[in-house]
Amino acid sequence: MKERHLLALSGGKDSAALAVYMREKYADLPMEYVFIDSGCELPETYAYLDKLRAILGIEIINIRSRRNFEYWLKMFKQVYGTASSNAEQVVTTQNVFDAIGEYERSQTFTRNPWQAYVKGNNQALSDSAKRGAILFYKPYQQGGGNCVACHKGDKFTDEKFYNIALPQLGKGGRGGADNTNDYGRGNETKAYADRFTFRTPSLLNVEGTAPYSHAGAFYTLEGVIQHHLDPAWSIANYKFDRVNSENPGIQTTNTQTNTLEALGKLREDQANGLTPLRTARLSKTAIEDLANFLRSLTDPCIKSADCLAPWIPPLNEDPNGLQLDAQFNLSARP
Ligand code: HEC
Repeated sequence: MKERHLLALSGGKDSAALAVYMREKYADLPMEYVFIDSGCELPETYAYLDKLRAILGIEIINIRSRRNFEYWLKMFKQVYGTASSNAEQVVTTQNVFDAIGEYERSQTFTRNPWQAYVKGNNQALSDSAKRGAILFYKPYQQGGGNCVACHKGDKFTDEKFYNIALPQLGKGGRGGADNTNDYGRGNETKAYADRFTFRTPSLLNVEGTAPYSHAGAFYTLEGVIQHHLDPAWSIANYKFDRVNSENPGIQTTNTQTNTLEALGKLREDQANGLTPLRTARLSKTAIEDLANFLRSLTDPCIKSADCLAPWIPPLNEDPNGLQLDAQFNLSARP
């Protein structure tokens, strides 16, 4: 990864002072000076930046000078006001909540093969997915995966919190002696019992949301399912050394120790009756069947750029310079 030194100038005195300081103390550093230009700054600001350019002998790069600051105001007026409304009237916290809520509510992708099957279409599922469904709903004692103990109902979640000791990658959430561990719910409640617990996620459209778990520890459905069935085996075989080579920059200090702490806590949770999770030895085919059942929870719409078009802004719209551009690639990494 190439290191770059960026200094953002605002046109005010603090950032200008920092620029002067850097020029004096670190003259050899290849600094890049940038100015986030709204396109409607005061003339004095532009004149001031020209002066800085000349005095310091630096180049200042204008970023996204074509951003359209009127864009959101126009949209808010259209939906929540009239052409003559002003920003204070329409861009209210309540309206922002409402707009985000409506946007999220519109994205319910539940027309999946499993629903069709439940409604009576026997052809909607492959044989493998049908076997997977049975494993999903069967308790451990009958040779099943007992998944429904937590992934319940039409949304496949009981909305409760459990520790399933998934590998603890990344910078964590302030937990543990050196703050690199992630206590999940425990960070919020400060209760020991909640340590390492995370909310059961919905499994609708899970095929399209790799990598899996709170820390993105598994690329494949088979991998994360195998982990559920035998966390100790999964952790013992997890390629901790691959994480850094594949994801440079991800913090992996103490990853293994932190994960083992979660596993130790899982054993306590099991002894204390805090979780229904138990070790279950299922065959490779059974795990594939479970994964195929989960794939039957995919609404085909989420795989189609055309179907998703209403939610995807045009590439060149980007009114704030913050737009994330959607890419379609559902192929899992090995
Ligand atoms: C004890 C409750 C529990 C049981 C039983 C359970 N899960 Fe989970 N599952 C969870 C929790 C909690 C997470 C999220 C954990 C995390 O991110 O740390 C999760 C995550 C997942 C994920 C990853 C979802 C994502 O978006 O990252 C999949 C897939 C999954 N479970 C499938 C299954 C299957 C299949 C079974 C049965 C073999 C199963 N689960 C049994 C609680 C459970």
